[in-house]
Order: sequence, then structure tokens, then C-alpha cells
Amino acid sequence: MRRPIFAANWKMQKTRAEAAEFVEKLLPLIDGTDAVDVAIAPPFTALDRVAKALRGSRVALAAQNVNPEEQGAFTGEVAPGMLADLGCAYAIVGHSERRALYGESDGLVASKARALLERDIRPIVCVGENLSEREAGNTLDVVGRQLAGSLAEVPHERAAEVVVAYEPVWAIGTGETATPETAQEVHGFVRRQLVDRFGPGGEQMRIQYGGSVKPDNVDALMAQPDIDGALVGGASLQPDTFSRIVCFQPPGGAS
Ligand code: 13P
Repeated sequence: MRRPIFAANWKMQKTRAEAAEFVEKLLPLIDGTDAVDVAIAPPFTALDRVAKALRGSRVALAAQNVNPEEQGAFTGEVAPGMLADLGCAYAIVGHSERRALYGESDGLVASKARALLERDIRPIVCVGENLSEREAGNTLDVVGRQLAGSLAEVPHERAAEVVVAYEPVWAIGTGETATPETAQEVHGFVRRQLVDRFGPGGEQMRIQYGGSVKPDNVDALMAQPDIDGALVGGASLQPDTFSRIVCFQPPGGAS
């Protein structure tokens, strides 16, 4: 059984005070949801404040990006050891916004994932096709290529620590979610790729869905066999919507 994982990707939003207020409101709302992992990825500037606000809770701290180098002349960048120092348990790498807006390649994503594992930070590796790739029928080719490239430096014995996030670009921030069946089709493909590459470790890897996840669609998404959680953008900015997502209702109604 894979333990579901829900992560809030705040992107370039929230000041330190807003971040601390969010955590204060969120924690009581998700009290009692021990069966899932939860992480919050604030902007770098709020990591320290959120780390303090989360102390004593079981919610993990996550970063939204990292530089693969340990230190040096890399103006504006943040090293894996700096994230470890802040208490980050996870870091998102290869988000489609970074791939599209900042030219992040699979090779760079792969080196980021390796550098994070060296610091015992779990990478959340994002993959996903854009609209024209989907319309051309190339979804699985694109996702397969991104996966192979982005996970190229993950050692077999560390595979289970890596989270993959399937985020179809056309569903991000658009309000248009993949249907549960469409998402499962890709998640099932991702699972087969992971098992082919990592063997039994691939079965343990969690695959999040991301792209307009909301309180009203999370239950159906989570009912799919290879959807192990969600990477949430817009709906993670408010404690009530994010907590409802974390407290999803599994099929059959048992929680
Ligand atoms: P939205 O939930 O706003 O569509 O964003 C998804 C995302 O990009 C999370 O990383």
C-alpha cells in the first residue's frame, strides 16, 4: 500500500505573515488525517517562517526548486544543503513552469533529483504534456521521455523516496482537470515505466496528479489505482480548500 501524499505548491505567492497564518489555520483542520503525508512548498523567502510554524506537526516542509551544485558562484540560486538546513523534507523539481519559462531540461532535472537525494531530501519530479502534444497523440511519448531523462540519476535503492507528479500542462491553473480515467491512463503508464526501470521500488513510488485539483474532484481522482495523491496549486492557497483535499473521501466512504 502506498501512502498518499498531498503537497501545496504555492508558487510565487504569500508573504511570511500570510504563510504563517495559513499554517496556523490549516493544522487544526487536518488533525486526525494520519493516513496521508502532507507537505507545504512556500516560496524560498517563507521557508524558514513556515518551518517554525510547522514545528511539532506532522506536515513536512518542501521547496519549489533547487540548484544541483553544493555551493559557489551561482547568483540567485539555492543549494540542496541550504534546503536541508531549513528542514526541507521534499523539493519540487522540473515543474512545467520551470521547464517552459526557464528552460529547465530533463538533464538538469535529473541532476537536481540526484543532488537532493544526496542530502536526504525527497524529490517531487514533475512531468506532463502540453495541449498540442496531447492533441497530436504524443502524451505517452512525451511523458515517457521526460520520466526517463528526469530520473536518469536516481539510484535503484533510492527509488521509493522519489515522488513523481503527473501534471498535464493544459490542466494547470485552467480549471480544466483531466478526468479520473484520463489521468489514470497516464498514471498507469508512468507506473509501468517506473517498475520497468526500478523493479519492485517502482511499485512503491508515489505518483501525484496535479492540474486544477479541487475539493470537488479529488475524491474521484483518488479512487484511481495509480493516483497516490495530488500536487495542488490554486486550491492550496486557502486552508479550507487544501484541508478538504487532504481529507479526501476514499471510495466507499470510509476515511
Ligand atoms: P493548479 O492546481 O493551480 O492547477 O496548479 C497545479 C500545479 O501546477 C501544482 O504544481
